Amino acid sequence: MRVEGRTWWKEGIVYQVWPRSFKDADGDGVGDLKGVISKLDYIKSLGVDIIWFNPIFKSPNDDMGYDVSDYQAILPEFGTMEDFDELLAKAHGMGLKVVLDLVANHSSDEHPWFLESKQSRDNPKSDWYIWRDKPNNWGAWFGGSAWEYVPARNQYYLHCFSKKQPDLNWENPEVRKAIYGVMRFWGDKGVDGFRFDAVTHYSKDLSFPDTPPDSTGYGFPAALNGPHEHLYLKEMYRQVIRHYDWMTVGEGGGSTPESTWDYVDPRRKELDMVFVGPHTAVGRPRYGNGYDLSGFDLPAFKAIIDLWQRGMEHHGWMGWYLENHDQVRSVSRWGNDGIYWKESGKMLATLLLFLRGTPYIYMGEELGMTNYPFSFAGEVRDLETMNDMKVLAERGYAPERMWNIIRQTSRDNNRTPMQWTNGKHAGFSTASPWIGVNPRYKEINAEEEEKDPDSILWYYRHLIRVRKAHHCAIYGSFHLLAPKDEQVFAFTRNDGDEELLVVLNFTGVHARFSIPERFRKAERIAGNYTDTPSGLLHAYEAYVLARKQ
Ligand code: GLC
Repeated sequence: MRVEGRTWWKEGIVYQVWPRSFKDADGDGVGDLKGVISKLDYIKSLGVDIIWFNPIFKSPNDDMGYDVSDYQAILPEFGTMEDFDELLAKAHGMGLKVVLDLVANHSSDEHPWFLESKQSRDNPKSDWYIWRDKPNNWGAWFGGSAWEYVPARNQYYLHCFSKKQPDLNWENPEVRKAIYGVMRFWGDKGVDGFRFDAVTHYSKDLSFPDTPPDSTGYGFPAALNGPHEHLYLKEMYRQVIRHYDWMTVGEGGGSTPESTWDYVDPRRKELDMVFVGPHTAVGRPRYGNGYDLSGFDLPAFKAIIDLWQRGMEHHGWMGWYLENHDQVRSVSRWGNDGIYWKESGKMLATLLLFLRGTPYIYMGEELGMTNYPFSFAGEVRDLETMNDMKVLAERGYAPERMWNIIRQTSRDNNRTPMQWTNGKHAGFSTASPWIGVNPRYKEINAEEEEKDPDSILWYYRHLIRVRKAHHCAIYGSFHLLAPKDEQVFAFTRNDGDEELLVVLNFTGVHARFSIPERFRKAERIAGNYTDTPSGLLHAYEAYVLARKQ
């Protein structure tokens, strides 16, 4: 039974594992489930509670597992169903929950459902995907038109992402039933919930209006938050979710606060939380394809986090991340991965662990892993990056300018192998990995950081313990201080019993911040410098003060 208020998924901390790059146990250069099993002790040692796995299902891997060809089979490169059962049992035995990625807006074009659907207009699955006689002007997220022609039907099918990811037709009750069946299959095995990929796309505007690209970068707002979206989620809740003690988190891409709260308002009984990553778009608009790297604007970054933090207090819960498999390394983006690598890595950790909402740590973030120095096409594996390269070349970008953008934006930055040791292939595999190892593995790796009590890794462990020991860090309200300050991100949290002050210098130079009088005698519970917090902050300094009320 679900109780409103305190829950395990609000108090828990999520560790995200992108299985292809976590740990390779069978020596083929690709991470696998047995590799994860061998590293469960490490995950547990961080103090996290929940592991979210990116897709582990059978897939031709056009979009690295986000194109599923069998929802009830494990990708052979990752292992077998027995491996999964063992992983789940061992994780549970250690008190770790396991959350899977449900990719249900679309399947692979190699899924038997689609293979049947595309054969004719009158086969039993003809209506399982979205077919039209004429395309409209919607663009696909990974480039080109969102419609692909199939001669056998003399029709086009919709694909919001790549053409190998046809959108399922959620209007069709049989499709919904099939997806609910998939959820029950994993639920009955004992998984602890799902991350719902591209959930805001389930329902589309059925009039399929032509649409101009909007400012979020989605060229097709009518393909989001359609008229039946909440009908489906409520149905899913009634038929499946309520029967399990799950954590459900939606990927709320392209959403505004107004359209998001309806997904997570507990009274509506849809999803537990969403993550939207509004802060990751600051200074990095992606209009269709290509990027405008307009620089980082701290006041804008703070304002957007503040907006969602305050919204949560009235409407529901959220997850927060600084990194994931679709982003770049946070220390390279918002910190300084050169001389202040360690300080800024810890500063960002302090932000993540003291926001209101469930924190999501992406594998390697706890080591301060950095972006990769991409410089030629043979190093790139991600289809989004390949498309961006094509578009930028078409727009006449000189190669060095293009690589500068790719190095700062490519999703492949976060998909390089986990850096375990300073040995061969960073201890990830005995074979040459499927994607290059970041050359900084010699200095940045788990083994080295394990030995150094001052490492980013140990700082994460400390912060995780501190967060858990302070109810206020989880549930306290959020109040932004000094919104216009261009160097310092400072805020308080307050749960009525305790008040926390979090102060973060986002720059590599000294900054001033006047500690409010009531915190002058407060206890310092975390920080990345050892001296007493003062009004003069060191480069990338972070500290947290706590006072009882
Ligand atoms: C989500 C995933 C991303 C994937 C896309 C299409 O945004 O996070 O990796 O490419 O959905 O499934």
